[in-house]
Amino acid sequence: MDELKHCDFTSRDELDAALAAEVAAQLAAAIARRGEASLVVSGGSTPLQFFARLSVQQLPWEKVVITLADERWVAPDHADSNERLLREQLLVNAAQAARFVPLKTADNSAEQAEQALGEALASLPEFDVVILGMGADGHTASLFPCAEQLERGLDLESTAACIAVQPSTAAHQRMSLSLSRLLQSRQLIVHITGAEKKAVLETALREQDACKWPIYAIVGQRKVPVALYWSE
Ligand code: 6PG
Repeated sequence: MDELKHCDFTSRDELDAALAAEVAAQLAAAIARRGEASLVVSGGSTPLQFFARLSVQQLPWEKVVITLADERWVAPDHADSNERLLREQLLVNAAQAARFVPLKTADNSAEQAEQALGEALASLPEFDVVILGMGADGHTASLFPCAEQLERGLDLESTAACIAVQPSTAAHQRMSLSLSRLLQSRQLIVHITGAEKKAVLETALREQDACKWPIYAIVGQRKVPVALYWSE
């Protein structure tokens, strides 16, 4: 399998436009092949304009299932909820016809939700496209280097599709897709901006330690094609 594919852009605007077109093309191809498509997206601040551009792509969105790589364990209308971000920025315009599978349940804690949600996520087909962000500490999804649950999340032998995570360096308990579920996919895309994150990724590629830099478990693996979409 090829190494990490680099797609660099001179502006965020160009990156967002190219990424939206690429994701729409991959979803359209999946629908043409199998009659349906699945997409995993991440929260945080980086994907805002990308979501806006993707939401207006012309696709049979009713045939697309969308879920999140991770969620903060807060009410779906909370300012920090990734679900809220998606409902406001992505599940609008043409994309409002897509089926959304939330990671936040009515359970009091992510631990309580882990098993039932994991079974529901395990029953989804192989994902067509998974888009991941990265924090300056090298976390991706909610696989945080500081979290004691990291080893479980990175365990490729594990059948758990999601894990409850308590980061010590970020707010809120989280629910994260596990590495093994993220890799049950046809295409991984890492979407980051800025020189600082680029330097972190380069360090991760050099040090090759997923416990220190969880993003390495994505960009260093060779099972699923992975592309890096980056701009200043
Ligand atoms: C989350 C995300 C997380 C995010 C990175 C980058 O819910 O926190 O899914 O993994 O992608 O933290 O976040 P920024 O885009 O805000 O830098």
